[in-house]
Amino acid sequence: MSVTYQQLVETTAFIRTRIHTEATIGIILGSGLGNLATEIKTEIAIPYSEIPHFPVSTVEGHGGNLIYGELNGVKVWVMQGRFHYYEGYTAQQVAYPVRALHMLGVKTVLLSNAAGGVNPNFQVGDLMIIKDHISLFTSNPLLGKNEEKLGTRFPDMSEPYSKILIKKVEAIAAAHQIKLHQGVYLGVTGPTFETRAEYKLIRAVGGDAVGMSTVQESIAAIHCGMDVFAISVITDLGIREEENTITHEEVLQAAKDAEPKLTLLFKELVKNL
Ligand code: HPA
Repeated sequence: MSVTYQQLVETTAFIRTRIHTEATIGIILGSGLGNLATEIKTEIAIPYSEIPHFPVSTVEGHGGNLIYGELNGVKVWVMQGRFHYYEGYTAQQVAYPVRALHMLGVKTVLLSNAAGGVNPNFQVGDLMIIKDHISLFTSNPLLGKNEEKLGTRFPDMSEPYSKILIKKVEAIAAAHQIKLHQGVYLGVTGPTFETRAEYKLIRAVGGDAVGMSTVQESIAAIHCGMDVFAISVITDLGIREEENTITHEEVLQAAKDAEPKLTLLFKELVKNL
């Protein structure tokens, strides 16, 4: 079922009763990358379960929070925990919080995720700025009746990720000696990690990294005119010829290890917007 504008109005009316100032930046934290939330001077943390029309969590005790507060002196919204297509949500539900952020006045979204590297130059722990994506292998959040008040029926996707934001992050990384790649993120449904043949296919069609999130959020954000910046932490390498097993624990650990770099980039970026 399509998301209706009325639902979004109700969601944001509820959230607005809890805050009295505005933020124009929204941040979505990926798997193993939730620690940035501890750097925030939190004014309010609203459990997703309390927010009207927000997707209902499938994992007990891991409902997530919508946080409002200050990061490096700048007001931000942070989604601590996101919704994934593999959990059984529709693509529209996965993207719902991004649309809610838009309704709350957010103009720029910063997305992070853990991803598998398929570019042979990548190492575990590297960061990859997403300069483009391939989302043809998973469902599109804009399927169904278009909500014209949000955006056009057929959005242009020629430059999904803001070149200006990419430049800013590159400058911050250079100033702090943080190694960065740029590449194409290919979105899959999960929850299986890929077979060797699938990792090879992803590489062959132009992917540098593969993951189970982000593309639906990016599409919804672009649809409603937001600027998007997205970055992957490379948590495993899909194209190793030798031992190639990948576990969720390995992904979480690698994300956690790389997280300080990501936190620094986001903290500096919000001050620079
Ligand atoms: N494949 C898909 N999603 C992922 C991976 C991967 O190798 N690593 C982290 N998320």
